[in-house]
Amino acid sequence: MKDIAIYGAGGYGREVACLINAINRVSPTWNLIGFFDDGLSKGQKNEYGQILGGITELNNYPEELSIIMAIANPQMLNMIINKITNTQIWFPNIIAPDVLFLDEANISIGHGNIIGFRTAISCNVRIGNFNRLNTDIFLGHDVVIGNYNMFNPSTRISGEVTIGNCNFFGVSSVVFQQKSIGNNTIIGANSVIIKKTKDNTTYTGNPATELRF
Ligand SMILES: CC(C)(COP(=O)(O)OP(=O)(O)OC[C@H]1O[C@@H](n2cnc3c(N)ncnc32)[C@H](O)[C@@H]1OP(=O)(O)O)[C@@H](O)C(=O)NCCC(=O)NCCS
Repeated sequence: MKDIAIYGAGGYGREVACLINAINRVSPTWNLIGFFDDGLSKGQKNEYGQILGGITELNNYPEELSIIMAIANPQMLNMIINKITNTQIWFPNIIAPDVLFLDEANISIGHGNIIGFRTAISCNVRIGNFNRLNTDIFLGHDVVIGNYNMFNPSTRISGEVTIGNCNFFGVSSVVFQQKSIGNNTIIGANSVIIKKTKDNTTYTGNPATELRF
């Protein structure tokens, strides 16, 4: 069993602990040693383990350690990753045992991704690094995904969609086939993207339109 810790001890971090426990029930793989979190005190505990410190403690961690990043905010995740300088830290993919791959031989996945329960991934899908697919996500055929994207529960990405970096997909959001999502986009809960989106913009509704503040 390899040592692993979760960065982020909020609700999502605790869900990721459950995912690790589920993987271990199928095939003993990970020894969960605890959490890193900059907003909580070292030694504090939740039901899955204790806080081992924040970024300073992680950068000074003296042994090889796998880390899974349970940070929902894409920009925050990107910022924290850039602060991790410890060369003994590894970022495995954590994939729920029940994920359905239509063609496992025809998919590429980088590192540091979380793929949650009841997710289905079609053929010829390319996934970069540090993407978080929460629960019950669908990725259609020929989808290409960059880095640091957050897919909240029941997001539906249709075939041939291209997705850049640091996007946030709200619960039950949908992207129509062959559309392109760039960078730093927020898609509201239950919203349906039927056109190409602009970067750094929030979209809501069905069909989704730009949310102007
Ligand atoms: C899109 C979103 C990020 C906007 O949040 P916000 O910037 O705080 O915006 P507000 O809540 O102030 O809403 C602004 C306007 O957009 C509307 N709106 C917000 N979210 C909407 C949505 N998903 N669909 C349709 N309209 C929406 C609001 O009704 C409001 O309209 P009004 O100005 O006419 O009153 C947020 O509403 C959202 O959908 N977040 C995703 C939630 C989610 O999936 N979380 C994951 C949990 S696991």
